[in-house]
Amino acid sequence: MITISNLSKSFAGFDAVRSVSLEVPEGAFLVLVGPSGCGKSTMLRMLAGLEKPTAGTIAFGGKTVSDGDRGWMIEPARRDAGLVFQSYALWPHMTVAGNVEWPLEVARMPPAERKARVAEVLRLLGIEQLAGRYPNEISGGQQQRVAIARMIAPKPRILLFDEPLSNLDAKLRVEMRTELLRIHRATGATSIYVTHDQVEAMTMATHVAVLRNGGVEQFGTPEELLATPRTAFVATFVGTPPANLIPVGPADGGVAFAGQPLAADFALAGPAQAMYRPESLAVAAEPGPRSLALDFAEATPVAGRIMVTGIKGALRLTAVVDRAPKFAPGDTVHFVIPAKPDALFTPEGEIMA
Ligand SMILES: Nc1ncnc2c1ncn2[C@@H]1O[C@H](COP(=O)(O)OP(=O)(O)O)[C@@H](O)[C@H]1O
Ligand SMILES: [Mg+2]
Repeated sequence: MITISNLSKSFAGFDAVRSVSLEVPEGAFLVLVGPSGCGKSTMLRMLAGLEKPTAGTIAFGGKTVSDGDRGWMIEPARRDAGLVFQSYALWPHMTVAGNVEWPLEVARMPPAERKARVAEVLRLLGIEQLAGRYPNEISGGQQQRVAIARMIAPKPRILLFDEPLSNLDAKLRVEMRTELLRIHRATGATSIYVTHDQVEAMTMATHVAVLRNGGVEQFGTPEELLATPRTAFVATFVGTPPANLIPVGPADGGVAFAGQPLAADFALAGPAQAMYRPESLAVAAEPGPRSLALDFAEATPVAGRIMVTGIKGALRLTAVVDRAPKFAPGDTVHFVIPAKPDALFTPEGEIMA
């Protein structure tokens, strides 16, 4: 449905997006996730036609809509794509119904059809009772629904979202995730959703692209990213909580973990980073033959289990366990390291075979 090929965008010599290629199937909910400044909004603005690529192409349903190599693009209004930003930008002098009707008027839909479509969309978003209100007479969450209603009213085949929930409070944000997915399914559109929040990405997406410094670090389903992270960056970015990385190196009779020699089921020729998922680690109050001593940082109950975090210098480990000794500030936590890591990465963060 959406084909992004070698897409790049530079601003005065600064590469905000670097040769991104992605295939987004029809009906997918693709999330672009990554830290602030990694190029997410620039990607979305190019998809919307608000920004011309420096190089590469974008095609919707096999039809090229942006061509950076030839320096042209189809204007936003003629792309069959709707866009919702973090700030809702509703027309303040128009009612809720007026705001939703406006893009239909622009598209020259006949008045009777327009009214019917507005009613239908307001019903889908559960805001029909707000039709006659003005934006300053409704809450932030309601304004966000109106912005989404306005976006989907003309039935775009592609929905583009740029951090649409970040201005909402935590509870509303979680409710709106479910709501947005319902709307995505009801419209049958292909959605691209930008967020810096990996939890949002992992819970909503059919496909995730992790972006870093303008490039795609990894593209896959949430399950694939968790099961087989291809880089140390992905391993420590996704997951609740994300995986642990321990610097390791060759040592006499085993492997040195953060400088401490322990017995291990693997051998190393040089320095590396060993990944352990939080559920692979155990914690103990007393040292053992395969444990690392860290300073207790915190213990948090999560869904009937306990998440224990310890810190020592640059090393920070988190274990999720069924039961744990009672730790207090100032205590030492002994993290029990399994003989085999869940994955091994080079010091630069690339996966090792
Ligand atoms: N119009 C612009 N002019 C110059 N630099 C820009 C412009 N837009 C974005 N950038 C830069 O490109 C990088 C990516 O920005 P952006 O796509 O907004 O990141 P994100 O949405 O992931 O936070 C940032 O370093 C940002 O400062
Ligand atoms: Mg942004």
